[in-house]
Amino acid sequence: MTARLRVAVLFGGRSGEHEVSLRSAESVARGLAQRHDVLCVLIDRAGRWLLQPGPRPEGSGGEPVFLTPSPTDGGRLRRLTDAAELARPDVFCPVLHGPYGEDGSVQGLFELAAVPYVGAGVAASGVSMDKAMMKALFSRDGLPQVEYRVLLARDPLEERQTLDALGLPVFVKPANLGSSVGVGRAASAEAFGVALDAAFEYDRKVVVEEGVDAREVEVAVLGNDDPEASAVGEIVPDREFYDYDSKYADDSRTELLIPAPLDPATTREIRRLGVAAFRAVDACGLARVDFLLERSSGRMLVNEINTMPGFTSISMYPRLWEASGLPFAELLDRLVALALDRHSRRARLRTDYGP
Ligand SMILES: Nc1ncnc2c1ncn2[C@@H]1O[C@H](COP(=O)(O)OP(=O)(O)O)[C@@H](O)[C@H]1O
Ligand SMILES: [Mg+2]
Repeated sequence: MTARLRVAVLFGGRSGEHEVSLRSAESVARGLAQRHDVLCVLIDRAGRWLLQPGPRPEGSGGEPVFLTPSPTDGGRLRRLTDAAELARPDVFCPVLHGPYGEDGSVQGLFELAAVPYVGAGVAASGVSMDKAMMKALFSRDGLPQVEYRVLLARDPLEERQTLDALGLPVFVKPANLGSSVGVGRAASAEAFGVALDAAFEYDRKVVVEEGVDAREVEVAVLGNDDPEASAVGEIVPDREFYDYDSKYADDSRTELLIPAPLDPATTREIRRLGVAAFRAVDACGLARVDFLLERSSGRMLVNEINTMPGFTSISMYPRLWEASGLPFAELLDRLVALALDRHSRRARLRTDYGP
């Protein structure tokens, strides 16, 4: 167990997953508060950092603050107007999903400021957010995946070749989003065009995948250089695929099965592949690895890695650890300890060069 620390929970963020982050942050703050002093920093939709007075994250309000990129300032949160010191967190915990939070940008600021933070570093966050890069790294390490193509613009010839190679249906996804935003399934050439237009509204880069009829299973990974995999869970979406509403709508009937009803050999292989995916992107701290398990063939296909998975008390990541014998508050404590461990190792590295 770590000593009592001041942990700054950053939440909200300039992304389509702002609301989801609020929900994750509520439970993270509550869990952390059992052992630590929690500071809540709302990043509003405009990107302002607002330090809130209490230990519970609120959807609005707070004193505008900033963190300087200078390591000499010790990670202080300073009031925007007069630079007065308002707080000095020991650890930062970015409970942010999607662009500007999970993609390496806020991690870059933490690196510059030389403060410990929970989760993956700059490069691992960036490549995990970008489905095209993520897939390239997975294939470099020989991980099984669906067939896919990356498109940068509407182009009739390339689109025809893509459908010839992948067949129908296909899944069309903006490369850099999450929570199924902009993801479409197309079962005809016309629908493919519509899905591409929709995806290009969100990103300059679009990934097109062979659509498979599959069960969806997920594993939670925890650790730094020696990561461990949790029990395996299964998502049973309440509609054709696991879209935004089936993930978050209050009336969603999507079910989580923990543990997933799988034979022991499949469970073992999913856990092994989860750790391999974590290593493939060089993740740190935590990640949830999602799989498609093709019904007809039993093929286990890595779908994606999320370096800041949903973290409400009913989210898959904490529930998988709970089922593996690690309660919520202890899980958070482990994440804080992993952040400190990584930070102290990095601080010992040489930054000079010479004889
Ligand atoms: N190639 C595919 N074949 C079948 N279903 C898919 C495929 N890709 C995605 N899906 C469905 O779409 C959902 C969202 O896709 P995903 O790649 O996980 O996007 P996100 O990063 O937004 O969560 C998945 O949970 C799954 O239900
Ligand atoms: Mg997903």
